[in-house]
Amino acid sequence: MKILVVGSGGREHAIAWRLSRDPVKHELFCAPGNAGTALVAQNADIAADDIAGICEWTRRNNPDLVVVGPEAPLVKGLADALASIGTPVFGPVAAGARIEGSKRFAKEIMRAAGVPTGLAEIHTDPAEAKKALARFGLPVVVKADGLAAGKGVVVAESVEEAERAIDDMLVESKFGKAGAEILIEEFLDGEECSILAMTDGENALLLPPSQDHKRVFDGDKGPNTGGMGAYAPAPVVGAADMDWIKSNIIMPVVKELGKRGIPYRGILYAGLMVTPEGGRIAKSGKRINVVEFNARFGDPETEAVLPLIGGDFSKALLHAATGRLSDGDLEILPGAAATVILASGGYPGAYAKGKKIEGLDKTAGGDKSVVFHCGTAAKDGTIVTSGGRVLSATGRGATLREAVDRAYRAVSGISFENMFFRKDIAHRAFERN
Ligand code: AMP
Ligand code: GLY
Repeated sequence: MKILVVGSGGREHAIAWRLSRDPVKHELFCAPGNAGTALVAQNADIAADDIAGICEWTRRNNPDLVVVGPEAPLVKGLADALASIGTPVFGPVAAGARIEGSKRFAKEIMRAAGVPTGLAEIHTDPAEAKKALARFGLPVVVKADGLAAGKGVVVAESVEEAERAIDDMLVESKFGKAGAEILIEEFLDGEECSILAMTDGENALLLPPSQDHKRVFDGDKGPNTGGMGAYAPAPVVGAADMDWIKSNIIMPVVKELGKRGIPYRGILYAGLMVTPEGGRIAKSGKRINVVEFNARFGDPETEAVLPLIGGDFSKALLHAATGRLSDGDLEILPGAAATVILASGGYPGAYAKGKKIEGLDKTAGGDKSVVFHCGTAAKDGTIVTSGGRVLSATGRGATLREAVDRAYRAVSGISFENMFFRKDIAHRAFERN
């Protein structure tokens, strides 16, 4: 098949890499891609959210399938635009991507579909929002309705902190229109888990459950990031939980969207909070609650999940994109995988770019490890840093321990100025034993 992958991060490198390992050979393209995708695909110099540019490329090149990585182009209607020129696209139409683009819409869908989630109120008036805090107790969560580059959520430990978040969003307009409406939400206690469900709008297949590491430092300390590492399968949910999640979360949402005339084709990513035995159960009364939905593959979850998918991945993507997904389409391999993000000093705050990356050539890990590029660029024959998250080193093994060890072994040869990474990926899984 001729396939275009849209995006430029580690997620897109992992998607293109996985497609390059299919039993059938594909002609792979990536827009705009990065120095890593260039190893497995041909990069096309078009920004991921340049809808007109991608449609123009598609008209000229006539791919069999377009796979959209990031949320921004989906929310802007890339899938709608591609569908109108007759190209199968893996990624929901804008009306479906709203499940990520508007937290209010996500709550509305969950309420209608009976999906367990934290209790929430919508506010536009700062005084009313502050009054609402007393109804929630502490900690309390304040969220901007719209996309805010991962920064629109404040888990406040004190009333002062919650009031400051309300003022930032509703008075100072720190997130512009995205924060013109906010949610005050019940705090959910427990351990997080990412469920990536592939769906064609009728059926859904769940990929192995994974866990992200959002905080920047070891021991889950420091500010939130886009994710500093991930592993799969995450033991926080078991096989019986996965069946429950499919019947009580994924399918009801897919069906509710369908009822509203939204055929959801792509990844429905459910960010879950799982309350441990004896923990404080949420107001929904359930042990598993939805924190958020995303309309795409997670990053860095994808770098740990896709190495566990066997068989012909292109077939599963195409079948989801064309409404023909069936149970046998996704082959899940035994064992585990883990990925470690190598980041630029200063991230998630300000950081330098253009630093030369050494040691990438030493990391050809065959079947057992691979280094995905997240924020890299080619410059004068070398590869340099071009983002906060630079590389994602993945290991696969029969056990999670083996996978994590292989991921860190892949890291060991690599360096760039001010590089740092978390040393405790998968610690929650290891602490269980
Ligand atoms: P979101 O952008 O909705 O994924 O929120 C970012 C992060 O904030 C989540 O991954 C959680 O760690 C945290 N978070 C969001 N909502 C809640 C909640 N209701 N209770 C506890 N933590 C939350
Ligand atoms: N790793 C979190 C996300 O992709 O949203």
